Amino acid sequence: MNILGISFGKKNANSDILVKEALFGAREANPDAHIEFINTLRLNIGRCTGCGACSKALEKGKDNLCVEARKDDFSVLEDKVRWADCIILGAPVYALQPVGQFKDFVDRFSCRHDYSAITWVLDKRRTGEMPGNADDFPMERFKKRTVSYISIGGATTDNWTSMGTATLHIFGFPPMMKVMANYNANCMGTVGNPYLDQKLIDDMHEIGRRTVNGYNDDSVTFFKPEGKPAEVCPVCHQRLITILPGTTTVECPICGIEGQLSIEDGAVKVEFSEAQQKRARGTFAGLREHTTEIQGFGAICAPKIMANKEMLDKMMKERIKDFETAIGNKD
Ligand SMILES: Cc1cc2nc3c(=O)[nH]c(=O)nc-3n(C[C@H](O)[C@H](O)[C@H](O)COP(=O)(O)O)c2cc1C
Repeated sequence: MNILGISFGKKNANSDILVKEALFGAREANPDAHIEFINTLRLNIGRCTGCGACSKALEKGKDNLCVEARKDDFSVLEDKVRWADCIILGAPVYALQPVGQFKDFVDRFSCRHDYSAITWVLDKRRTGEMPGNADDFPMERFKKRTVSYISIGGATTDNWTSMGTATLHIFGFPPMMKVMANYNANCMGTVGNPYLDQKLIDDMHEIGRRTVNGYNDDSVTFFKPEGKPAEVCPVCHQRLITILPGTTTVECPICGIEGQLSIEDGAVKVEFSEAQQKRARGTFAGLREHTTEIQGFGAICAPKIMANKEMLDKMMKERIKDFETAIGNKD
């Protein structure tokens, strides 16, 4: 078994400390495992430029490589993630969300590891509708994995870390990783603070153990630490909710599923049906909904664009010129 700890924090600071404590727990669960730790601070990971080269390569029958990876350290982290069976991922909260480097990595990693999108293309290769050999694609990239998320914030409560663990979830859902924990570590404004909180350290060890034990055993459940608020979404275990005004329907912004909101004895209650839970974003059904939706989008837009192509090209050039003339700044 390969176990990987990733810290997006400062070297030897709080994210490092907590991820390493979770790795101690992982070792308790499997003393023979190969364990690696990586701190990303010194890695140069640029943003996704939206060039589309990965998707175009896939459509041409090739691997969906990130061409930007030739220029920076992205592959260092991607290769480690592909190697791992169990992952502990810790990131500091910067302005309510995980630090930007995490998101830059996710934008380039997670979309290219969307299980439904890849299998959709491979099915088309098999029927001859798309070029390429389906069996050439390295499907071991989608091997079974467990992951646990630790969000590290300086604030004393969840109030200023509100989108920490929620955003960490976007790393693992496209390749359908099984989430064993998401944990808000608050009060982490001073380096070394975790060592002064034995319950926190114990929780990290438990997270490590569950991330390993949950790999082969479905009876090992998601970690719900004592003293933390109750979850609302039973799939991602988060408490964020999108209200659809004028209705009692709400959505989990992480899983994309609908729930019903009610007030019982003066308290808000949200229920997500079994059917909705089965179409959460991190399931094959949920990912496939999106693959299908994107194909539908192309079918709607392509004829419209083709019918107006000349006019659209002209208009775009004119409006760029209008802007430069009126406002003045060229990029
Ligand atoms: C630019 C910046 C923004 C921050 N924003 C938040 C925040 O919104 N909420 C919070 O709880 N902590 C915030 N913090 C505090 C860090 O999350 C905290 O110090 C954490 O321990 C840093 O992780 P590290 O020790 O692993 O580097 C911020 C820190 C920095 C540098």
